Amino acid sequence: MRDYPSDRVDLRSDTVTQPTTAMREAMASAVVGDDVLGDDPTVIELQNRMAQMLGKEAGLFVSSGTMCNATAIRAQTEPGDEIVTESHSHIYIYEGGGYAALSGVSVALVSGNMGIMEPADVGKAIRKGDGSLGHFPNGSMVCVENTSNRGGGTCYPLETMDVIATVARENRCRAHIDGARIFNASVATGQDVARIARDYDSVSICLSKGLGAPVGSVLVGSSEMVARAYRWRKMFGGGMRQAGIIAAAGIYALENNIDRLAEDHARARKLAEAIDNMEDFTVNLKQVQTNMLYIACEEGGADDLVSRLSEHGVDTLSIDDSSIRAVTHLHITDEDIDRSIAAFEASQ
Ligand SMILES: Cc1ncc(COP(=O)(O)O)c(C=O)c1O
Repeated sequence: MRDYPSDRVDLRSDTVTQPTTAMREAMASAVVGDDVLGDDPTVIELQNRMAQMLGKEAGLFVSSGTMCNATAIRAQTEPGDEIVTESHSHIYIYEGGGYAALSGVSVALVSGNMGIMEPADVGKAIRKGDGSLGHFPNGSMVCVENTSNRGGGTCYPLETMDVIATVARENRCRAHIDGARIFNASVATGQDVARIARDYDSVSICLSKGLGAPVGSVLVGSSEMVARAYRWRKMFGGGMRQAGIIAAAGIYALENNIDRLAEDHARARKLAEAIDNMEDFTVNLKQVQTNMLYIACEEGGADDLVSRLSEHGVDTLSIDDSSIRAVTHLHITDEDIDRSIAAFEASQ
């Protein structure tokens, strides 16, 4: 579904998608207002629709997934608290330490299996200030990333989601989902997003990844939580005026780009299986549950592999010395997958 000219296959991320002609038309004809004054009808519609889809009371449109997580953490913790999250989570690794700088919280890390935390490990990681003679920070929020990006695009089993939320509640913690790709998890597992998120206080959902919008995320939860997040969004400089222009792309994405995520998953699987069959590369096929694949190559060879693939017109990202990442999305066609397989073969 690529309708812009490109002679490259861009597998670096599902964030590289450009708005399609139909999405741009929806943006161009959007009715807008001033969202800081609270009267942009398109933003209001997007927030309400997302909240409804996730089974929550209210939604808040923000500029990015990072801001979504930051406002969620700030709205549900106090400085000196601690959040619990997986050791490779986006919140911990890729958000600039925002949890510490913007919310004043520390982090307790849980080692997951392919990015998936076990409920018992979450329970052990929660420390409470009360009863510790003042030694411990106050664990007050558990953050679950579904799908798990560094886990390989893996999906949490529903039961694990539910038990982690119970563990959080029993320990008087808020439960948050970094659901940047929660629709990928929903399509891959056949579980409705509202069911996945049922026991969680807040969910951040990205529109600018697999859903194909150019910008934006929505934080959903109770009206009270969203009212607090609204104030923090303002203080973080995230109030946007005629934001309906970009919210319209989000509404278009919700209407048109969810079910088709299954195509991205099938293409990622095909690419993963072909690469795993090659002499020089390995893909842990158990991890390939949605639209991502992490490819292991020889120690120290990742940057070189990325360059060689690039010479064949295929763009990927190096993750560490011996692994690179490829992600499928709405601009990747079946022909692109064949071309990528050929490029990997030629880069051995
Ligand atoms: C799991 C996860 N959470 C949050 C984000 C942050 O999104 P953004 O890049 O819009 O800030 C990303 C981005 O890739 C992500 O993969």
